[in-house]
Amino acid sequence: MLAATTALPHWEEPPADRPAAIRQVKAALRARIAASGRTVEEVFAVVEQRIKAEVDDITAARGRGETVWPVIDYADIAASTVPAGTAAKLRRRGCLVVRGHFDREQALGWDRGIVRYVEDNRFFENYRGPGDDFFGTVGSKPEIYPIYWSRAQMQARQSEEMARVQAFLNGQWKSESEGVRWFDPARDSLYPDRIRRRPPGASSAGLGTHLDPGNLDLWMTQAYQQAFRHLFDGSIEQYDPWDAAYRTAGGQYQGSTMCSAFRTFQGWTALSDMPHDQGVLHTVPIPGAMAYLMLRPLLADVPDDDMCGVAVNQVFPASRRWHPLLIEALSGIPDVRAGDSVWWHCDMIHSVAPVENQQGWGNVMYIPAAPWCPRNERYSASVRDAFRTGSSPGDFPPEHYERTWNGRFGEAELNATGRSGLGLR
Ligand SMILES: [Fe+2]
Repeated sequence: MLAATTALPHWEEPPADRPAAIRQVKAALRARIAASGRTVEEVFAVVEQRIKAEVDDITAARGRGETVWPVIDYADIAASTVPAGTAAKLRRRGCLVVRGHFDREQALGWDRGIVRYVEDNRFFENYRGPGDDFFGTVGSKPEIYPIYWSRAQMQARQSEEMARVQAFLNGQWKSESEGVRWFDPARDSLYPDRIRRRPPGASSAGLGTHLDPGNLDLWMTQAYQQAFRHLFDGSIEQYDPWDAAYRTAGGQYQGSTMCSAFRTFQGWTALSDMPHDQGVLHTVPIPGAMAYLMLRPLLADVPDDDMCGVAVNQVFPASRRWHPLLIEALSGIPDVRAGDSVWWHCDMIHSVAPVENQQGWGNVMYIPAAPWCPRNERYSASVRDAFRTGSSPGDFPPEHYERTWNGRFGEAELNATGRSGLGLR
C-alpha cells in the first residue's frame, strides 16, 4: 500500500506550473482510487452520506435550541472525571469550550497586564499597520496585536492548567499508529501566536469560512499524501481524522499565512466575557469533513486545473459554491467568560461572524495544542531565538515590535513546562 502511495507525483516545494501540477496530481489520485475498484464518485458518495448524517444531527440539535459545541468544566479535566458521554461528544464534534480553564480574575488581570505592556512600550504610537494580508482584511485598527512575549501570554502558555488541557486534547488523537510514535501527548511546544483585542463599539466583517492545516500541499506533498492515504486508496472507511500518522513529519509550503507546527487543536483563551452573538468563532463541527474537502476537487464538475479554489500562500477556502452541505453545519460558540478556552480540531472549517457595534470587549490569546514531535521540534529552534530576542516568530510577519520593549517575559521566569516547551530542558 505504501509503495503505491509514494508513487504519486509529489512536490515538496510549491510547483512552478501550478495548473499543470494540479492536473497531474488529480489524474494520479483518480487513477489510484479507480484501481481500488470504486470510482471517485462512489467513494465521494460514501463520504457525503456520512457527513450528511452529521449535518442533520447538528442542524436538529440547533433546531431544538441545544448548544452544538461540547462544554467541559476544567475541574473535570483536572480530576480526570470528564463524563464518557461528553468526551464522546468532543470526539464527534471536534471542538470544545473549557469552562473555567483559568480563574476569571486571573484572565482579566492578564488582559490588564497586556494593556500595560503595550502602552508602556508605546505600541499604538508606533504601530505600522497590519503586517499580513489575511488578518489585515479585518480592519485598519490594531485588533490583532503582533505581540508574542508578554508575561500574560507566557504565564498562560507554561501554566499547569494549560498543560493539563493540552494533554487531555492531545489524548483524543492517536499519537501512535503504523508502528510509530508520532508525537508526545504530554509535552507541548508552546507555539507562540498573537493577541486579539476588539474594543466595544467595533464593527467587523469577520473572517470567511476557511481551514488552516495547509493548502495545495495537502494533496501535493508526500507526507500529506500518506496522512490522507485512506482517502485515496480505496479504504475510505478506515479514514480516521484523529490519526496523527505522517502529519508530524512533513511541513507546509512556505507562505505568509502558514503554520509550521503540527497542532492537534487550534485554540484561544478568553480574556473578556463574550456573548455568542458578538462576532464570535464558528466551526463546521465535523472532523471527518476533511475527507469531503479533499475529495471534492476530484469530481468531474471541477475544472481539471482547479482544487475548488485552493491556492498557495492563501488560506484554504470553504465555500457555498463547492461545499454547501458543510456550510449548513456552521455553528457558533456559546457565551464564554474570561478564563474559558475554546478549541477546535486543526482540520476543521471555521469563521468569525461579523459584528456591528460590538457590546463589550472581544479579547483572546491564541494558544493552541502543539505537541512535541519532529515537526514542532524543528520549528522550536527559531522559537527559542525569537523568545530570547523578542522577535516575531518565523511563521509571522517580521514586525519585531518587542525587541526593544521593557517588561518582556524573561528566560529566568520559565518554569519546567516552559523550558521543556521551548526545548531547553
Ligand atoms: Fe483560521
